[in-house]
Amino acid sequence: MQGSVHTLIRTQIDKATANAIVRNPAYLDDEQLSREGQFAVLTEIFNANVRDREIRDVSSHFAPMFQNGHPVHLSVLGKTGTGKTITILYLLHEFEELCRERRIPFRQYHLDLCCAVPCFRALNNLACLMGASKYYKRGISLDDLMLAIEKHLRSVSGYVTVFIDESDNIRTDADSFYKFLIKRLPQRIEGKLILVFASNRLNWADNLDPRIKSCLKMRETIFDPYDATDLQTILEIRVTKALRAGMMDEGVVPMIAALSSRNHGDARKAVDLLTRSAQLAEKQCQHITLDAVRQASEEIERDKYVTLIRTGPKHLQAALYAALLGSEKRPKSLHTGDAYLLYDHFCGAVSLRPLTQRAFSDLLSELDMYGFIRARTVSRGRYGRSKEIHIAVAAPVVAELKSTILACFGMVGPVVTRR
Ligand SMILES: Nc1ncnc2c1ncn2[C@@H]1O[C@H](COP(=O)(O)OP(=O)(O)OP(=O)(O)O)[C@@H](O)[C@H]1O
Ligand SMILES: [Mg+2]
Repeated sequence: MQGSVHTLIRTQIDKATANAIVRNPAYLDDEQLSREGQFAVLTEIFNANVRDREIRDVSSHFAPMFQNGHPVHLSVLGKTGTGKTITILYLLHEFEELCRERRIPFRQYHLDLCCAVPCFRALNNLACLMGASKYYKRGISLDDLMLAIEKHLRSVSGYVTVFIDESDNIRTDADSFYKFLIKRLPQRIEGKLILVFASNRLNWADNLDPRIKSCLKMRETIFDPYDATDLQTILEIRVTKALRAGMMDEGVVPMIAALSSRNHGDARKAVDLLTRSAQLAEKQCQHITLDAVRQASEEIERDKYVTLIRTGPKHLQAALYAALLGSEKRPKSLHTGDAYLLYDHFCGAVSLRPLTQRAFSDLLSELDMYGFIRARTVSRGRYGRSKEIHIAVAAPVVAELKSTILACFGMVGPVVTRR
């Protein structure tokens, strides 16, 4: 018996290795790649004319630097996954090289505000990046941090570029932060300060104090979502670097590119779909087929809904459970009132105080906005107006959503309802 399990393990390992599709997983996940590795991939992609317009745009914006001029600040806008961060980092790195060649003093700092932070943290992080201060949890005033940055930069000549990534992510006192960077700092240092902002929100600067805004001399450039041709180029380069040759059916890359450009134009998600398809094919011990892509795409979709509801508020979870259960019972005509009774019962079963029917109706609108359900307002004659609820997600997603919600309430079996 012992011998057979050993054989089983070995056979399985040999089979899996023989069918390994991913040769170099780092090229499917940028976090695992070094900065040089990322830039090497990007060089190939940019050489294939992807992001040509944006590169011309940003390069000509910085061109005055090479004639002793002073470019104004730059705001880079665009949807998530359109390559704002990576392209700007790449270009700043190139400008740094060029400045070194031409003996122009240039330094750059990348302040990544990927998580929402208060003004204090943003200033302290910037000071740390510059080596102007140590990391403080508290115990130092905003003014002291500002003075530390000023003192550090006072002796620096030439160009100082600060790339503020996700610039809308200053949670409290954004005005103090931007007032310092836009109004105060340029006057107190010798060098020429150039700020580069990146954000997904086109109007991120609108919330600033008008006095700061009026001082903000800034140009904007927009990164468009990648189209299918761009995504195909991006994916093909990743395929050659990350996957074993000959493990993919024809048409797989165009299909991923087409699906991704139609749905979002996000390169991060396109690479993710490629990775999932490869992993699925590996598990099934076969090549990457069009069917594997379809399955991976459904898996991603399912995960998206499940994560959204798992991390959502308790009442939203309860409302969705009621809608899912109700639609099974009345697939054609589930109305708000019926769904509310189920919700009320569910709340009782999980010891949650139910909200009013009006608040429940708002929860339904929220579920509609997220794409879980479609709620249509219909007139029911003398019974007034009501919402007719239809489930908008596929059957396998419904099953997973129901078990996720029950797990969130610590329940294993379904809630039994009387209706
Ligand atoms: N031109 C590209 N070539 C290769 N990969 C790319 C390219 N653009 C984006 N990517 C991939 O998409 C990911 C997201 O890119 P990036 O972080 O630059 O987008 P972003 O526009 O800054 O998005 P966010 O708004 O979410 O910060 C990168 O890590 C990379 O994997
Ligand atoms: Mg970014």
